[in-house]
Amino acid sequence: MLETVDPRINIIDKRLAGVKRIIAVSGGKGGIGKSLTAAVLALTLSELGHRVGLLDLDLSAPSTHVILGIEGLYPEEDKGLVPPEIHGIEIMSIVYFSGDNPTPLRGIDISNAMLELLAVTRWGPLDFLIVDTPPGIGDATLDVIRWLKRAEFLVLTTSSKVALETVKKVIRMLRELNVPVIGVIENMRMGGSGLVRRELKEVPVLGEIGFDDKIEDSIGEVNKLLESDFAASIKEIVMRNPGFKLSSYHF
Ligand SMILES: Nc1ncnc2c1ncn2[C@@H]1O[C@H](COP(=O)(O)OP(=O)(O)OP(=O)(O)O)[C@@H](O)[C@H]1O
Ligand SMILES: [Mg+2]
Repeated sequence: MLETVDPRINIIDKRLAGVKRIIAVSGGKGGIGKSLTAAVLALTLSELGHRVGLLDLDLSAPSTHVILGIEGLYPEEDKGLVPPEIHGIEIMSIVYFSGDNPTPLRGIDISNAMLELLAVTRWGPLDFLIVDTPPGIGDATLDVIRWLKRAEFLVLTTSSKVALETVKKVIRMLRELNVPVIGVIENMRMGGSGLVRRELKEVPVLGEIGFDDKIEDSIGEVNKLLESDFAASIKEIVMRNPGFKLSSYHF
């Protein structure tokens, strides 16, 4: 019902018309490095010469602004909201509006806030729009699929069986909904069990990222982030996998 009467739905496609690829970073479980990956992936693609946007859709616990050290910036109003550009990346987050205030939202309110953000944001021409998603595979993931129709998913897991079980479900859901999956990254790699590569047969495993015990010192400082082992692993994964080529559309 909401779909047919809400004029915001129709505007989203227009707002994203100049965006070549949309990559949603997901994974089901919490705390597995989705936000860090989304932020560093955006920085890496920008460093490689692409025009990049970063959309933080974790409306209750936005984190990408903390990771990138963004403070005191706000979108500009001009027939919508133009996201501020930081380190060459256009960044949109609910934090511009909520500041330090908590934003505990229920189901329909999450959808509404997301819809509003998508409908008002005027992205420039972009090669990649990276989307950070909250944990879980409920409202936010389903809304991303529903409203960011061209989104391709980059799925994160850790080496833990616990994370992997959920990731299998995420992948199954995405495949059943015909949503393209670029592949899986194993983050905070432990030992050499090879469990992830053994268990995930249906999607490409793009690479592994080790536990970077110095990453916390780099949070909030882009230059340090770019020099981190974490960023080196992301860059290697991006350079090695055709799934990150601008031309590798799934449509
Ligand atoms: N490879 C890594 N090595 C060391 N620390 C890491 C690594 N990946 C992520 N972290 C750290 O783990 C914590 C959780 O990461 P992050 O916030 O990106 O996870 P998330 O999946 O987005 O969590 P949430 O589900 O709560 O949104 C952060 O402190 C981050 O710096
Ligand atoms: Mg997060």
